[in-house]
Amino acid sequence: MGYKFGLIGHPISHSLSPWMQTKFIELAQVNGEYKLYQGSPDELENVIKHLREMEIDGFNVTVPYKQVIIDYLDELDADAAKLGAVNTVVLRDGKWVGYSTDGEGYVQSVKEKYPNLLKRDISVLLLGAGGAARGIYRSLVQQNITHIDIANRSLNNAESLLSLKESDTLTSVLSFKEAEENLSTYDLIIQTTSVGMKPNVQDQVIQLNNIKENAVVSDIVYQPIETKILKEAQNNGAYVHYGHSMLIYQGQKAFEKWTGINLEVNHLTDELEQKLR
Ligand code: ATR
Repeated sequence: MGYKFGLIGHPISHSLSPWMQTKFIELAQVNGEYKLYQGSPDELENVIKHLREMEIDGFNVTVPYKQVIIDYLDELDADAAKLGAVNTVVLRDGKWVGYSTDGEGYVQSVKEKYPNLLKRDISVLLLGAGGAARGIYRSLVQQNITHIDIANRSLNNAESLLSLKESDTLTSVLSFKEAEENLSTYDLIIQTTSVGMKPNVQDQVIQLNNIKENAVVSDIVYQPIETKILKEAQNNGAYVHYGHSMLIYQGQKAFEKWTGINLEVNHLTDELEQKLR
């Protein structure tokens, strides 16, 4: 009998996780399968019951269940607790343990592409304050990056990320207009909102006219791969970081939690890019 892995969420029929996790299973040379367990909110109880009964070894959790899954867990990792969100559940000694690998996966994806970027003294601008932004913010704080500003449409939502700071973290909450005005001070700009995602490919959350030389602009949107803001970044001479690599590395970290196997998966980033172009 091989590993049993899967994904819960709604809707998930277009998810890339089965493709990716099946590649990981092959790369690791283990027996296993990764299946979709789709269910609407009123079917969630039944889906959970089914996963318990089949003794699934591990599963990913996506929208809209990243918070509500916590009610069904036996144990929760401290960082996932702080974030209030779980994207990976592991069956360990009969217990369901919840983790969040999104932020860690994002940081790893940046390190693969720009190994020298994430230094303590850089200035980061985070655009957006949703679930993805929370995980990324927390992981940047854990990388000892002290200056991370947050710009968001709703300033209240941005302020809710401040509970994830450490004592030496310097964070200002900004409007998008203020972020544009300060743009030349940032070494890394991370776009985490849904703005620019298909079909709204002409949308862009801020303009980059004032960008610093050699800055990196990162977008976690990967449909399309080349979002409008990334095109503008390139036109302004900045470096870019595409969103699909975060997907690969959050998945790689989930696979590691389930199996203990730390796979080298960089080539899959290129494969996924071809698939999405
Ligand atoms: P995710 O889990 O993918 O991060 P989310 O939690 O729904 O998704 O967060 C969405 C983010 O995109 C938020 O920062 C949201 O801004 P608000 O906090 O002001 O709602 C941002 N967002 C979504 N649509 C937007 C739009 N049209 N303009 C600007 N920001 C937008």
